[in-house]
Amino acid sequence: MTMAAIIGGIGTTHVPSIGKAIAEKKHNDPYWKPFFKGFDYVHYWLARTKPDVAVVFYNDHGLNFFLDKLPTFAVGAANEYCSADEGWGIPVARPIPGDAALSWHLINALVADEFDVTTCQGMLIDHAITIPMTLIWPGPSWPVRIVPIEINTVQHPLPTLARCLKLGRSIGRAIESYGQNLRVVVIGTGGLSHQLDGTRAGFINKEFDKLCLDTIVGEPEALTRYSIHDWVQLSGSQGVEFLNWTAMRGAMTGRVSELSRNYHIPISNTAAATVVYENRRERAREAA
Ligand SMILES: [Fe+2]
Repeated sequence: MTMAAIIGGIGTTHVPSIGKAIAEKKHNDPYWKPFFKGFDYVHYWLARTKPDVAVVFYNDHGLNFFLDKLPTFAVGAANEYCSADEGWGIPVARPIPGDAALSWHLINALVADEFDVTTCQGMLIDHAITIPMTLIWPGPSWPVRIVPIEINTVQHPLPTLARCLKLGRSIGRAIESYGQNLRVVVIGTGGLSHQLDGTRAGFINKEFDKLCLDTIVGEPEALTRYSIHDWVQLSGSQGVEFLNWTAMRGAMTGRVSELSRNYHIPISNTAAATVVYENRRERAREAA
């Protein structure tokens, strides 16, 4: 039977200044090189695995949603996603093709699974998608279509880690029930530890980041014992973007292993992590 398959996951930060560094071709600059080098393996892996679609978990920073109306979870359902000038000297990314048919399949499955998501047939995507996409696929055209999935990591109350893990699992099951021969990669953007404002501005927690990266692969449930307030304390007020990584991990329903990890401090004032995870289908499922 023809079904979509989740081949793996990619996690990456989405710090705005990366967009400016790319535009200014600073890849070999001593400050940037250790960060950009982390994408060599990503490019190697993608050249071998050739996904058709990327499901991207991210948080909007005020370009499409603002504090007056901010959904906890929203799913894009468009055939194309445009960006806009957000400032910071980042060039506006070219439009990224969507896969509206897959989006609607996921939306139907999510609502049936009691995730009552906001559905966006028109949606601007911000640097939390355009920068990871440009890092992951630096070529002149996009070789994948995307389904953007927004998670509120901005205005409290935020969803719990457990909820985001369940959201990811629901999406993972939905992808695998999609009757088209698609290879799907799931992406989580943001983090890791960082805090942009207040008396702890510049806060980074290397030990906690390591614990997160060590734990998310094999036992993501173990991270759900941390409340959002614990997370702010341990990872910084913007470190909660790890919710996007948690949903990405949840979407991988098979046997997950880490293929590469690059952790670099700092990019701007953020601990930047780049990972590639492989998702191997369980044998029982394969036989079914
Ligand atoms: Fe962010």
